[in-house]
Amino acid sequence: MRKERQRSVRQLPKLAIACFALSAACSAEPEGPRLGHPASPEEIAAKDINVFPDGTGLPPGKGTAREGKVLYDAKCASCHGPKGIGGSAGELAGGGSLTGPHPDRNIGTYWPYATTLFDFIRRSMPLDAPRSLNDDQVYAVTAYLLHINGIIDDRTEMNATSLARVEMPNRHGFIPIWPGEKAR
Ligand code: HEC
Repeated sequence: MRKERQRSVRQLPKLAIACFALSAACSAEPEGPRLGHPASPEEIAAKDINVFPDGTGLPPGKGTAREGKVLYDAKCASCHGPKGIGGSAGELAGGGSLTGPHPDRNIGTYWPYATTLFDFIRRSMPLDAPRSLNDDQVYAVTAYLLHINGIIDDRTEMNATSLARVEMPNRHGFIPIWPGEKAR
């Protein structure tokens, strides 16, 4: 019994060399696990849709609140309520304030940028059909939401330039966390 154990211990280095040789042979194998495929430029472009606070990344296109109302009523009101109030999903309008005993968090009281509102809607709304709106429709419905929050009128065209210029009521309500970012 003891001898057997000794022999098997002596065999260990051989075993280790065999394992090493095997793993070296495996790593020389060029094939990967064959999962997925290299992303094509079209696939990358479809996912590369970030819009930054300063408007970088906003696509061409345009829309007004008047156009957006029709879309909102058809595709958003079922969850967010007429004019952004009283639906089962979060309220998008309705005024109020973040600082009282019962804070009202909605687009007018909370969102610091109109540009990132566009980004959010384009990538994730309507919840049951994200990415189903084209860029003109996203501009229009964003314009409508800004309008019902009393931020723009219902005729002003929202596009890559004008949307980036919208000053949101809570623009200065956030503490900067990015290196080099200054409170403005
Ligand atoms: C099927 C229900 C549903 C529909 C339809 C829908 N939403 Fe939403 N929406 C939600 C839910 C639920 C949330 C909260 C999601 C979260 O916080 O991650 C939300 C969040 C949002 C927010 C962020 C609110 C905030 O301040 O955090 C915006 C803006 C928004 N939706 C806009 C829209 C627009 C515009 C449409 C129509 C184009 C739309 N939604 C359609 C369910 C819906």
